[in-house]
Amino acid sequence: MDASMLIDEAVEILKSQIDDTAIIACSGGIDSTVAAVLANKAIGNLLHCVYVDTGFMRKDETEEVREMLTELGLNLKVVDASERFFKHLEGVTEPEHKRKVIGEQFIRVFEEEQVSSGAKYLVQGTIAPDWIESGGGERDVIKSHHNVGGLPDDVDLVIVEPLREFYKDEVRDMAAVLDIPSSNRQPFPGPGLAVRVLGDLTRERTEACREACAIVEEELEAAAEAGLIEIPWQYFAALLPVSSVGVHGDARVYGETVVVRAVRSIDGMSARYSEIPHDVLQKISTRITNTLKGHVNRVVYDITHKPPGTIEWE
Ligand code: XMP
Repeated sequence: MDASMLIDEAVEILKSQIDDTAIIACSGGIDSTVAAVLANKAIGNLLHCVYVDTGFMRKDETEEVREMLTELGLNLKVVDASERFFKHLEGVTEPEHKRKVIGEQFIRVFEEEQVSSGAKYLVQGTIAPDWIESGGGERDVIKSHHNVGGLPDDVDLVIVEPLREFYKDEVRDMAAVLDIPSSNRQPFPGPGLAVRVLGDLTRERTEACREACAIVEEELEAAAEAGLIEIPWQYFAALLPVSSVGVHGDARVYGETVVVRAVRSIDGMSARYSEIPHDVLQKISTRITNTLKGHVNRVVYDITHKPPGTIEWE
């Protein structure tokens, strides 16, 4: 069946499933966006789309997602919940604990939106690989991979999953027909920058990591554009709570460390670090230390494959 037929069929099914207010958590990712657009076609403004800004999004991401979802005609509410996330993450540095706190707070925020919208239905962008038994993949064992959109089973809502039987390529085809701009953004973990800021999760340190990630993205994309490298599968920076001595002019400074990570991979289950030319790395290092002067004075490049490393540092 072609994508337009799949869409028509999914919309008809949604019309028969939903007869009252519904809510969906939209991250701007392809699955939740396609699910939201289908539900919007079926029930219009009875669908409330909620985008939760946790404070750990990439640079400009919230604005870009807001623009895209609004242009698609969705009834969108952007909730800035960053204050709450930072407060609950105070003193939390253990990666799994972080994921747990973020997942829980996301659910609390979403529940409040559900109550205020009076929603009876919850639309989710679950696709087939999300629920089909994977036979206990490595990712489950190593990290809990908390998807910020992953909501508990005990919510008092009727769950509707229009993409449940579909695979990623079918969802991509539907997105193309629905004029959903294909994001060329690389994979990004559900907990966002929170798992790239090692140590204390303060606003200032998160901002430094956000800036460093943006620089890595810009420089590697420019290098790929110029034909110097093949664009890695994933590329970013993490901020390490390791201080070292440096110099700025005549002054001795004591600053933190940024690690740059770029990997080649097919599905994230295993990865090889990307070989990036030194002059590209040099440019990244200079830009990061100039932009984050006073905070970061050392930049290192991670040359660990997965295994034994993971792609993210947490
Ligand atoms: P790791 O670091 O385990 O990551 O090698 C493999 C891929 O998964 C992403 N990742 C996550 N995605 N929630 C997610 O939705 C998470 O908690 C999470 N942790 C890691 C990671 O960015 C990489 O693409």
